[in-house]
Order: sequence, then structure tokens, then C-alpha cells
Amino acid sequence: MFEQLRPILPTSADAPDGELRLGGVPVTELARAYGTPVIAYDGAHLEATARAWIDAFASHPAGATVAYATKAFSSVGMLRLLGDLGLGADVSSLGELQVALRAGIAPELIIMHGNNKSRAELEAGVEAGVGLVVVDAEQELDLLENVLHVADATQAVLVRVNPDIEVETHRYISTSHAGSKFGVTSDVAATLLERAAASDRFDVRGVHVHLGSQLLDADPWRRVIAWLAGWARELHDRTGVVIHTLDVGGGLGIAYVEDQVPPTPAAIAAVVRDALSESWQAAGLELPHLVLEPGRSMVGQAAVTLYTVGVVKQTGDDDIRYVNVDGGMSDNPRPTLYQARYRALLAERVHDAADAAWWVAGVHCESGDVLIEDAPLPTPRPGELLAIPATGAYAASMASNYNLVPRCAVVLVENGTHRPLVRRETLDELLARDVDAMVAST
Ligand code: LLP
Repeated sequence: MFEQLRPILPTSADAPDGELRLGGVPVTELARAYGTPVIAYDGAHLEATARAWIDAFASHPAGATVAYATKAFSSVGMLRLLGDLGLGADVSSLGELQVALRAGIAPELIIMHGNNKSRAELEAGVEAGVGLVVVDAEQELDLLENVLHVADATQAVLVRVNPDIEVETHRYISTSHAGSKFGVTSDVAATLLERAAASDRFDVRGVHVHLGSQLLDADPWRRVIAWLAGWARELHDRTGVVIHTLDVGGGLGIAYVEDQVPPTPAAIAAVVRDALSESWQAAGLELPHLVLEPGRSMVGQAAVTLYTVGVVKQTGDDDIRYVNVDGGMSDNPRPTLYQARYRALLAERVHDAADAAWWVAGVHCESGDVLIEDAPLPTPRPGELLAIPATGAYAASMASNYNLVPRCAVVLVENGTHRPLVRRETLDELLARDVDAMVAST
């Protein structure tokens, strides 16, 4: 099992005695220290991935900013680690902005997103001095202009353009088709850029596109740059607006199961470089400063979630084999939301051969609360640890308290040591917003 799942495990994972270790720390030690479920990030893996992203674009002549999409997972500790390596942050709420600022990310490396930004969010972004606000609608341009007027400030902006490109991914995470709720059509984008350029409140930098998420093919980046080149040429000729900055968003996928093989950041960089020379420069445009916003591909493969096995049973006409674990859709809603696939390991005996396909079910009161429907495993034993790899993105950040379960701890392991990034929620914290519960306990 271990060797087969090697490609989807964090790089520091090993198992000299059959027990999975991450960053040199045996998983039983993590379970003892933090309880289960627990999400453990491999610090070495995170650092290597961040460097791979930065190095991939380091030679771009017009410079590149790699801004981590904090929605994938944000905690102050995580952003400090990534920020210290030189990454900026893509934020799309007051909460994400707060975390980025508290982590010490330089405001000029923060990019503000959102398809319905509130006045309070725009005010906070302007006050913090964020590097870019990505305008998503005409109404937002008006609102931002008013915020800037009141604050007597100026702001660098991009406009989010919908390129009307189809990509291969789950429809809930594809964003660049016509009719998506994000961004504006190319015609409206041109109008907004022209309007913004005419106002002394805006420093018009360029455009943003985000193709979609969990893309396992680099070709959409080539297609979008080719299309943008023609559009930017026409825009410039007609209005004089220059695209100085091209933000190509996030979207690079990861391997959740062994047969998925995503391109590397270097492969994406090569496609972007070639597309820029074949279409952008060919159209006589100056090379733009690039912005990349990787989320999933930055942190997804760096973490493993550990669960404790509870009830093991077979049921139904087909004799489905269930292994129930002590978490589920509350710590990882992705299988339920996107039919996402995962693999599992019995973490204390990773070299044992699988004897059947198991359904890994969660504790929640829903039939859809199944994390995996086809996990090849040896027969699990109650009380042992089960590990699900590739849970570093959009698991903890989308966690809920469904069935009033406390959210789990998130920890960082490195060089034989571990520390919490986010500790486990307590029952008192869970009830802290329940007004009557608090009154009753005083
Ligand atoms: N930039 C923008 C403007 C975005 O909307 C997103 C993701 C990213 C960057 C980062 O994309 P990534 O590199 O992570 O693919 N909850 C879903 C994913 C939603 C992605 C939303 N936007 C999931 O679990 O698959």
C-alpha cells in the first residue's frame, strides 16, 4: 500500500517499521498529542512546493508574483511560513485579509478577490494598502471609487475577465465558462478598464482570469493567453489601455489518487512562457508582470488527515464493507460536494496488503457522508489509525460543525517535531455563540 500511494503522500512520509511517519514523527504520537481527526502538514513538503512555484517563474523578464490562494487553508502560522519564503496572498474575505496581515505578509503582495465585495471589505483593503483589488463587476468599480474618494486614496486594480473557456473539472469548480458568476465579459472588462483609466483614483494595472480548479492539464493556460493577447491588442489600439499585469489565477490540480498526474509548476511556467512569446509578444505587446495564485497545488499534497477507526461492518445485499471513522464531511466535505476521490492507509501497518475495497464512512447523520467508496485496505481493526492523504487544501478551510462536532486540530510536522497551527475546538467554544447555553452555564 505504502509504495503504491507514495506519489500522493507528503515527501517526508516514511514507514520504517510499518507505521506511517511524517516529518520523522510517528502518526501515533500525533494522534496522542492532538486527538483525531487531526490534519498534519509536512513543513518540508510545503517549503519545497513554495520554492518550486517561485523558482518556476523567477526568470520571467517582467517579474512574477506568486500569491498563495489562502482559501485553500489559512492560519497565521501557515501564512507566516509561506510568506517567509516570499509568497504573497490572495484573499477574498475580511477574515482571510486579517490572517494575511497578522502573518506579516507585505500588504503590497496581497490581492483582494470576491464576486460581491462589501464596502467594509473594500475599505479594509484600501486602508491596509493591498497591492491589487480585482474588480469583479461594474457596480464594484463604483463602490470602490467612492471608498477611495472618501479615504482620499488611490488603488491599483485589475479587472476580472471571463474568457469563456471550457475546462475539464467538476462543474462546481469551473469558473471560466460564459455565465459563471465570476468576473465580467470581455466587452464589459474593456469598458471598465477604460473607465477606471479615466479616473485619478485608479491605477489600472491589467486583468485577472481564473480558469477553474483541480486542472490536470496545462493547455487551458495556453488557450487563455492566446485569447487574451488578441483582446489586449485590440483594447490597446482602441483605448490606449495597457495590460501591465496579467494575473492568470490558480487552478493547478494535485494527485488525490495514484493515476492523477498533474503538471508541475515548472511545466505551467513553460506553457505560460511559450504562450506569451507565441501570442502576446507576437501581437506586439510588452511582456506583462505575471501573477499566479496557486491554492490547492501549494498545500493540498502536503497534508494527511488521521482518523481513528470505529465500527467495522458489512451490510446490504452487496455486502458493502464499511469502516467508520471519527470524522467525515465536517472535516472534509469534498467527497460529498464534488464526488472527490481519495485513498486511505491503515497508518500503523502501511505495508500490509489490501484484502478488499472498503467504504470509509464518517460519523454524520447522512448517507452521503462517505469519504471514500473504493479504498483498497486490509481488514481494519477498531481503534487503529486510518490516514487519508492529500487533504491539505479545502478540507480544514471548509470544515463545519455539522452535528455539533468540534473542528479538528491542524498541525505542522518537521524534523522530528510537531506543533499545532490550529488547535482542536472545545465543546465550550462550540457553544460560545449559543446565547442561551452561555446564560444557562453562568
Ligand atoms: N484565485 C481565484 C480567484 C480563485 O477563485 C481560486 C479558487 C484560486 C485562485 C485558487 O485555485 P486553486 O489553485 O486552489 O485551484 N473548494 C473547491 C475549490 C474552490 C476553488 C475556488 N477558487 C474544492 O475543494 O475543490
